[in-house]
Amino acid sequence: MTPKAVSTQPIDGQKPGTSGLRKKTRVFMEPNYLENYVQSIFDGIGGVRGKRLVVGGDGRYFNAEAIQTILQMAAANGAAHCWVGQGGILSTPAASHLIRSLEADGGLILSASHNPGGIDEDFGLKYNGPNGGPASETVTARIFARTREIDSYHVVEAEPVDLSALGRQELAGMTVEIVDPVADYAALMETLFDFDALRGLFAGGFRMRFDAMHAVTGPYATEILENRLGAPEGTVMNGTPLPDFGRGHPDPNPIWARDLMNCMYGSGAPDFGAASDGDGDRNMIVGRKCYVSPSDSLAVLTDLAHLAPGYADGLAGVARSMPTSTAVDRVAKAKGFACFETPTGWKFFGNLLDNGDVTLCGEESAGTGSNHVREKDGLWAVLLWLNILAATGKSVAELMRDHWQRYGRNYYSRHDYEAVDSEAAHALMDDLRGRLAELPGKSFGPLTVSEADEFAYDDPVDGSRAEGQGLRIHFTSGGRVVFRLSGTGTQGATLRVYLEQLETAPDVLDQDPQAALSDMIAAADEIAGISRRTGRSGPDVVT
Ligand code: G6P
Ligand code: ZN
Repeated sequence: MTPKAVSTQPIDGQKPGTSGLRKKTRVFMEPNYLENYVQSIFDGIGGVRGKRLVVGGDGRYFNAEAIQTILQMAAANGAAHCWVGQGGILSTPAASHLIRSLEADGGLILSASHNPGGIDEDFGLKYNGPNGGPASETVTARIFARTREIDSYHVVEAEPVDLSALGRQELAGMTVEIVDPVADYAALMETLFDFDALRGLFAGGFRMRFDAMHAVTGPYATEILENRLGAPEGTVMNGTPLPDFGRGHPDPNPIWARDLMNCMYGSGAPDFGAASDGDGDRNMIVGRKCYVSPSDSLAVLTDLAHLAPGYADGLAGVARSMPTSTAVDRVAKAKGFACFETPTGWKFFGNLLDNGDVTLCGEESAGTGSNHVREKDGLWAVLLWLNILAATGKSVAELMRDHWQRYGRNYYSRHDYEAVDSEAAHALMDDLRGRLAELPGKSFGPLTVSEADEFAYDDPVDGSRAEGQGLRIHFTSGGRVVFRLSGTGTQGATLRVYLEQLETAPDVLDQDPQAALSDMIAAADEIAGISRRTGRSGPDVVT
């Protein structure tokens, strides 16, 4: 089992996106594809000799095989120790927690998040640093630079490790330790939330449905909700992780979690519904006949987090990605703490969290989290909601009504145009960028543009600058539309159009968001020429 160097050459297109490298599974399975990228990660972080790493993934097709390759390469590169979730399973937040609690040097997480899994679907790999969070832009750039110049990788030929056997094994001088993927994470949740109150809630007849979407949160949710909190068996739906997620699209939104939505809007609906995505970092919250948008969820959690023991001392501050609605800004203002606006991508929250500037973070893309780990965390959000429901005795709908009455309502929607011809999508953005300066003062239907710019972010902690982070058009009505190309797709380009309008009058807080935003939807199409340039008559996904 002596390590050998295998010669290789750079493979095009190994540039990490918003969250690591995501490609079609078959691409990852091509000769040297995974190996080149893993070696580039190791080289890009300054080698792994003597280092201790956490490895695990969301269980999608190719997860276990890729883990074996990673372990053989880590051993060949001189790593000292790898902790691996049993069966190769670790949710993204659980991996983040293990990196932090074990004081590991970093981790490799295998996931394409909410993208479908299977041999003809998507696969992904990302590196998280010693703080447990996604690699910074600087580290990511170094990894990418290595992919452009790589000429060999190191690997040992060895029998596969037994991923099912808890405990230590040896692989060419490196210790592989298989750990329970759920235990440490569940213990962390017990320190943040009032589990006694939650047990009381379920004992009192409170009913919920958690849709694990055949993905990684199944075992976590079953252990926490059913085993530890006493929710009735069957509370967790689709709770067994499958390599192809039951041929579903494990993205917790009203489109892809339709069964749960039907249940929550049907007769006899339970009190509370929630779902999480492929790797367990996203969340969807829905009350009885009351869907909560991710931006509103962030605002409510920010307002009421102090009701949970882990946040009883209040929050240091809060952060949201730029396209996320500004609902949370008004809560932060009322409470007197800072609200930061960052580009899309959880990695941009890392410095603020490490620096103690913020306690909670959230994104419109169904991500919410706190300083307990350095990833967004689906089940954490669900438990914080449950804790708030238990502490207030109110329903989700009552909490939302209270919130809007106090702070006003940010009508919000995101329209996605998926798998658009890449050139057409870039042309749309380039053309709009070129016209930003001439838009102020122009009217589109009843709306008049007040300001238009392209978002750039200066990180207040390390001074780095991220440019080209979305085109923003503000209207005199106080509303805004943002145009951005997704950084997580694997096919063509995905155009995201984010629409937002604040209403404060008590009699207009109860509208359908698509109706409330209809003027802005029309204006967005006129301003950017969406249908003309993409050939689409409407969005593929509306959230
Ligand atoms: C991932 C990232 C998030 C990001 C989301 C959408 O889930 O972890 O931080 O908001 O993707 O990114 P996209 O570039 O597709 O809009
Ligand atoms: Zn995810």
